[in-house]
Amino acid sequence: MSNSATLKMDAAAEHSLLDDGVQGLIGQPLDRVDGPKKVAGKAPYSAEYAFDNLAYGVLVGAPFARGRITAIDDTAAMSLPGVLAIVSDPDKFLRNSGQGGQNEAPVQNAHEVFYMHQPVALAVAETFEQARAAAAAVVVRGEPIDGEYDFEARLDTADTPDDGVIPPATSQGDIDQAMVDAAVTVDGIWTTPGQNSAAMEPHVSTAIWDDDGLTLYGAYQMVASDRMQLADALGLDPEQVRIVSAYVGGGFGSKLGISSEAVASAIAAKQLGRPVKTVMTRQQVFDATIRRSNTRQRIRLGADENGVLHAIGHESLSSNLPDEDFFEPAGIATHFLYRGEHRRITHGIVRMNRMLSGSMRAPGEAVGLLALECAMDELAEKLGLDPVELRKRNIPDIDPEKQIPYSARKQVECLEEGAKRFGWDRRNRTPGAMREGEWLIGHGVAAAARTNQLMQSEAVARLTPEGRLVVETDMTDIGTGTYTVLMQIAGEMLGLPADRVDVHLGDSRFPPAAGSGGSWGAGSSGSSVYLACRKLREQLAEKLDCDPAKLTLKDGEAIADNRRVAITDLIGDGLEAHGRIEPGKTSESHTQSGYGAHFCEVRVNAVTGEVRVARWTAVYAAGRILNEKTARSQCYGGIIFGIGAALTEALVHDPRDGRIVNHDLAEYHVPVHADIPQLDVVLLPERDPYANPLQAKGIGELGIAGAGAAVANAVYNATGVRVRDYPLTLDKLL
Ligand code: MOS
Repeated sequence: MSNSATLKMDAAAEHSLLDDGVQGLIGQPLDRVDGPKKVAGKAPYSAEYAFDNLAYGVLVGAPFARGRITAIDDTAAMSLPGVLAIVSDPDKFLRNSGQGGQNEAPVQNAHEVFYMHQPVALAVAETFEQARAAAAAVVVRGEPIDGEYDFEARLDTADTPDDGVIPPATSQGDIDQAMVDAAVTVDGIWTTPGQNSAAMEPHVSTAIWDDDGLTLYGAYQMVASDRMQLADALGLDPEQVRIVSAYVGGGFGSKLGISSEAVASAIAAKQLGRPVKTVMTRQQVFDATIRRSNTRQRIRLGADENGVLHAIGHESLSSNLPDEDFFEPAGIATHFLYRGEHRRITHGIVRMNRMLSGSMRAPGEAVGLLALECAMDELAEKLGLDPVELRKRNIPDIDPEKQIPYSARKQVECLEEGAKRFGWDRRNRTPGAMREGEWLIGHGVAAAARTNQLMQSEAVARLTPEGRLVVETDMTDIGTGTYTVLMQIAGEMLGLPADRVDVHLGDSRFPPAAGSGGSWGAGSSGSSVYLACRKLREQLAEKLDCDPAKLTLKDGEAIADNRRVAITDLIGDGLEAHGRIEPGKTSESHTQSGYGAHFCEVRVNAVTGEVRVARWTAVYAAGRILNEKTARSQCYGGIIFGIGAALTEALVHDPRDGRIVNHDLAEYHVPVHADIPQLDVVLLPERDPYANPLQAKGIGELGIAGAGAAVANAVYNATGVRVRDYPLTLDKLL
């Protein structure tokens, strides 16, 4: 019997073995299995690996934003105590961070500088402090030339990116005429600023070479593709590169691809014959990894008197470096969220000398819905219609562009359940009409949607003679709970309690997984674990000589045909199975997305303009929930991101050279606990058979989608002031 199971998702998974399980693990709000290790300091993050003879690297950034480097003068730096080398290999140094899903190194060639603080060298010394002093003493000489720093002045120069995974432009019907014909319209421009993922753990790599090649301990989200990128950057065979990312302190997209410190550490470690560790400073994370681009979005909505949309337009511009493909796909959810036979969704890139832009949590929806969901609020007001009702009237029966059905879509249920829990019917529709002392009170609603994707992913599962289950895959846990949910899937499938399942992640020596990105991590890697475990069940059934469908596994026992035996009596010398999931026809046959609804109450100080979020209810439907607690935590995090986007977060670029002025957490304001009220999060029961054999959809990025728009709509309800320029800082409200 073959010991591997592959499933190409060509048909609905009408039945999931997880529903037959009796172990009681799946869905449970279990604490993270890695939690105790983390609080005890026993979960090593990439900066915490210690090696004999370890040297420390600190990156050196370019002192100008555009131009050619002529010399890197290390004379002064090399004379400082403890300094080992100033490493600069312009042919291999990375100009950019790589984005996920690509196996080639991001653009190399550091002879030329395209943005301020672009990494150009690495100072290496015996201690971090000595390396930092050396980095400051390196003199980078060059020939600066003028760059492009003014987004607004360059709108006309935007180009349309090539067709890729996400089509940059689609058009159907005649939106211009439909807007003329519509009874009620909204036509406005919304702008959103650049943002930084600001993960707690900075970007870090420790590189060590031996006879087999390079091992890199790095904080990465996608080990399999990161390994290919790193091998490509260094001119190595991928077999010679091992990446270990066992624990990652947040990524949010900024660690999808390798970044400059990985390549620099590897080159330096080779050159010195010593392990080299490079931890980015917080400023370097802001200056030289990736940013979410600023956007300028025109939304057009045209409805009839009944509030039914006939025209929907979303034309969006974002910025990036010359020759980069990535654009912020702000219109991504607009394709399928609402009705309208006349549609135009476009994306353009304004080329600028600002740090690379790339994926940050829910690329597309996170900022696209900041515009679309506020436009819907404006439309509801013009129609004299409740905004919840407006949305319900505009949920299409089938995908309005692809003309295909939706997979599970409980958007109406999310809106209705949220409205009920929040007490939406008690709100005052008149803006500025509710006040307690200095505080104006307002309520807002917005819809959430995040496209669901399945990616190829592999895992191996092994039953040991002692009756333990070991799961290995190079999937990562970036703080999301992967260790825990994979344990739950495996334990449920094999009828083993949590303490008999060991999950090992984040090592490129394990089977290649989909990685943590695009909210596909749990569904894709979980499916590969499910398939491997299904195979193990078949192997156990064969040993027991019974039909696998009639086999019950619970608490380490196999039960079938009135027989009950310990699985250790069936395992022998051990059993092993490999699982692999591949996307198939269901990705094309059904439009798949998670859905939700946000309801929020804000209080705006009438004297100072200060905005406080006072109350929040969010309801989501994202297929099977694998762990009620880790899923809920993702939603909390997403909403907090959304509140930051609405009220405080904004990268400020110096108009003279594009540099990020507020490049630390003192000046770039993410919400803190005191900014966030108790969040009421509800996860509706749902199964999505088109998503994967788990019938679960992604939830990591669903929470942020639409969240900030609910805040903006509530601020309008409180004050009567519509701000279309995020974030809604107090100066814009007074
Ligand atoms: Mo996500 S922005 O794909 O980590």
